[in-house]
Amino acid sequence: MVAVAILAAGRGTRMKSELPKVLHSLGGRSLVERVLNSCLDLDPSRRLIIVGYQGEQVKGALGSFERVEFVEQNQQLGTGHAIQQLIPHLEGFTGDLLVLNGDVPLLRPQTLKHLLQTHKQHGNAATLLTAQMPNPKGYGRVFCNGENMVKQIVEDRDCSAAQKQNRRINAGVYCFSWPELATVLPQLRPNNDQQEYYLTDTVNYLNPVMAVDVEDYQEILGINDRKQLAAAYEILQTRVKDGWMAAGVTLINPETLTIDDTVQLEADVVIEPQTHLRGNTAIASGCRIGPGSLIENSKIGANVTVLYSVVTDSVVQNNSRIGPYAHLRGHVEVGESCRIGNFVELKNSKLGDRTNVAHLSYLGDTTTGNKVNIGAGTITANYDGVNKHPTKIGDRSKTGSNSVLVAPVTLGEDVTVAAGSVITEDVPDDSLAIARAHQVVKPGWRLKSKSDKAQ
Ligand code: UD1
Ligand code: CA
Repeated sequence: MVAVAILAAGRGTRMKSELPKVLHSLGGRSLVERVLNSCLDLDPSRRLIIVGYQGEQVKGALGSFERVEFVEQNQQLGTGHAIQQLIPHLEGFTGDLLVLNGDVPLLRPQTLKHLLQTHKQHGNAATLLTAQMPNPKGYGRVFCNGENMVKQIVEDRDCSAAQKQNRRINAGVYCFSWPELATVLPQLRPNNDQQEYYLTDTVNYLNPVMAVDVEDYQEILGINDRKQLAAAYEILQTRVKDGWMAAGVTLINPETLTIDDTVQLEADVVIEPQTHLRGNTAIASGCRIGPGSLIENSKIGANVTVLYSVVTDSVVQNNSRIGPYAHLRGHVEVGESCRIGNFVELKNSKLGDRTNVAHLSYLGDTTTGNKVNIGAGTITANYDGVNKHPTKIGDRSKTGSNSVLVAPVTLGEDVTVAAGSVITEDVPDDSLAIARAHQVVKPGWRLKSKSDKAQ
């Protein structure tokens, strides 16, 4: 039986932020969310999150996770002090405790599985993840004998010059036999440079303690400042992009793209440079997205092109063409084989199949049928300054250039709106609506010049 504890009470002073460190976002998810996700595969019997600095905010951010228990650490007196807070919560618990730092977000689930297996296999009192770090600055150094048995862990700031030469670092990921840890926790003393209770000091009292090296040190990078946050993002992006390329997605100039690890792509999608795919986005086969596009929380059907455009919270069906320079936002649904063109904004609107909004338009709160043609510069006036109102346009209707549809208004099927019209009343099926001043032509009329006036 294994319980998991995540250390998430610290402020993270080196981030220089009002936001608690573990809530900083890495590719669309907070650090602590990522840490929690990395251990859910183990199906832990308890999930304990130790919170302190802005604890309410941390609790709120993890609200969607099931069976999570929060343990308060009111004063942040160190990682050992944080784990001491678990003692009353784990009374009678006889299994293992997996401890994860809330600021180590790139761990792979299989690494944690391997750690637990090793721990069990050897019957250790504690087993901890270590790595040979090219630049070990800032990390605790782990000193072992030849058999990977841990003698001591010394924090970077407490290391002598000679100890600093050791590149084997503590990842902040541990598996403890809880009954053994619980008996030694009260023995911790804050006799170090930071005057904190260090969890790492428990290895001085436990036996046997074993270190297990991770294969890839990048997995255990800790986030203490913004530079490390950016470096972790790079690593995550490389993982995500390598994964999609292996799955048959073409990425052109991959270093100019960002793809959240929540995004789903099908084989034979092409992502062009300077494109960003975020959140709960899914893109079907044959799409060409970009260059220069942002797609967030949207579902894109097969064979769609999106060129220099922004699509958020929307759905686009198969074979439609979006852009250049279109903005779809606030729950837009575009049907099949539509063309949403140059400088067009769509908001909270549903367009039928084969409908075109090709140039310079704004449609808000609008529903159209199929085969509708929205002329260049057509605008729905959907907002009266207080409320938003709907516009409905039936199948095969056409609006002339520069028409304004003042909502609420309904155009029937096969309606034609003359160019430059301001439509304020409903138009029935099969009708032409013209709502503009008649053109007046005055033959022989000419502007009088100054010399004409003088005469
Ligand atoms: C810690 C380890 C170090 C290791 C490194 C790996 C200790 C003493 N040191 O150092 O050996 O190499 O992680 O990344 O454990 N926290 C609390 N309550 C506290 C203090 C911290 O919950 O009172 C939480 C923080 O929110 C953070 C985690 O514990 O998520 C680690 O704390 P941090 O101060 O970043 O430790 P490091 O100095 O990085
Ligand atoms: Ca840290």
